[in-house]
Amino acid sequence: MSVSQVSVSQGTRKPVFVLIGGTGDLALRMLYPSLVMLDQDGFLPHDFRVIGCAREKLTREAFAERVAGALDLRLGSALHAAARERFLARLDYVVFDANDAASGTRLKAATGEPQDIDLVVFMATTPSIYKPICETLNATGLSSAPARVIIEKPLGRSLESSKVINDAVAVAFDESRVFRIDHYLGKETVQNLIALRFANAIFEPLWNNTVIDHVQITVAETIGVGERLSYYDDYGAIRDMLQNHMLQLLCLFAMEPPSSLDPDALRDEKLKVLRSLKAINKTNVQELTARGQYGAGKNNEGETKGYEAEKGSPSNTETFVAMQLEIANWRWHGVPFYLRTGKRLDRRCTEIIVQFKKTPHQIFPSPPPANRLVISLQPDEEISLRLINKTPGLTQDGMHLRGLPLSLSLQEDAHVRRRIAYERLLLDALKGNRTLFVRRDEVEAAWKFVDGIIEGWQATGMKPETYVTGSHGPKSGDDLVKRSGRCWHE
Ligand code: BG6
Repeated sequence: MSVSQVSVSQGTRKPVFVLIGGTGDLALRMLYPSLVMLDQDGFLPHDFRVIGCAREKLTREAFAERVAGALDLRLGSALHAAARERFLARLDYVVFDANDAASGTRLKAATGEPQDIDLVVFMATTPSIYKPICETLNATGLSSAPARVIIEKPLGRSLESSKVINDAVAVAFDESRVFRIDHYLGKETVQNLIALRFANAIFEPLWNNTVIDHVQITVAETIGVGERLSYYDDYGAIRDMLQNHMLQLLCLFAMEPPSSLDPDALRDEKLKVLRSLKAINKTNVQELTARGQYGAGKNNEGETKGYEAEKGSPSNTETFVAMQLEIANWRWHGVPFYLRTGKRLDRRCTEIIVQFKKTPHQIFPSPPPANRLVISLQPDEEISLRLINKTPGLTQDGMHLRGLPLSLSLQEDAHVRRRIAYERLLLDALKGNRTLFVRRDEVEAAWKFVDGIIEGWQATGMKPETYVTGSHGPKSGDDLVKRSGRCWHE
């Protein structure tokens, strides 16, 4: 699914994009750069307006200057001067405090009357103020249909707290107008997973427990938590990465073929996967999960401090988590799914490994390795299938074999700029297409599963094991996979 050259339909209403948290990190690093590139590529209507909102008292000019700085930093020469100027001219700024009713009046004065506009609001703030923001939008009428709202993780720290956030949003926007972003779903290669599975008939007969031995999903990062420590310490790897990005990858990989790409057709199938996850709780959490926290070490940033030294106090937060999951349905019965993610590891990579079963009967002097499909999402976009073939040359003792990759590099489109994941998602939200956004019941099913694990950790007193920065994680992460006689693909 590539971005098609279709402009956002606006009808007779004037398109307005309101960004609350408009001077924040997400807005400056991701959202304005994504919008300007959509603009440069002709996806935004000529009268599209962007209104940044934040508490800081700024003039329109000072705000535009700040956005210009962020665009230059992020995009450099990829952004053409004409598009840059055109986009900056679209900007407006409103001083907005979620707890001050006058903010709503000011915002409405800038957007125009609800019945005249096609409004999309992006709440790029902490979810703790979604409630007052929604109340303000509701009170001014700005949340009335067809207005849409885009919200970002963290959508809670647990099932209960996610319900509070979703309820607050639901007061102003019905579910069909709520766009929950998981930026992994905006990545080209993640969408390619849908294409790989459902546009190639050859895979479907192989995509099950008769042929697949196990699946590994790894999201490894070399960076630490950096500036985000105060947020991260409250969340840890399981809430920050696994509850959302990794479970979404799992769903796209494991779901049944949807009947169409309609939002609910696809999301119904993802939901079934989440609901089929076999519970992990205090009875099995020690066997099926591993937690780690980075210690000091050396990586591409040089010598680095450990997590607790960065924090300046002891912490029970994991920066690495691994687990063995089981999807309790017919297709995946008996196939373990190993998921792991961590910071300050030895490499940056996001990949899905499909390990096929060995041949049932051996006729060669040494048994051939099993086939393996490697779907690399980051940093290289590549799909590679290990096929076994004869080692060339003469031998006295029968035929010798070797595994060779049949590789499809998606980098050949390298002249095409790699888009920021938010570009696809913002364009879809502007068009009202929810296929790549997460539905409330999906978020809740994912939390329900993750809550069980966290409760299990608490009940069993399972602490994170320290691992050396620049390594591939704690020993318990390896042991998890070794228990079933397997190993991680490194
Ligand atoms: C974010 C997490 O959602 O995803 C970060 O909060 C993480 O901790 C980031 O670093 C990873 O995203 P990407 O696109 O760099 O793989």
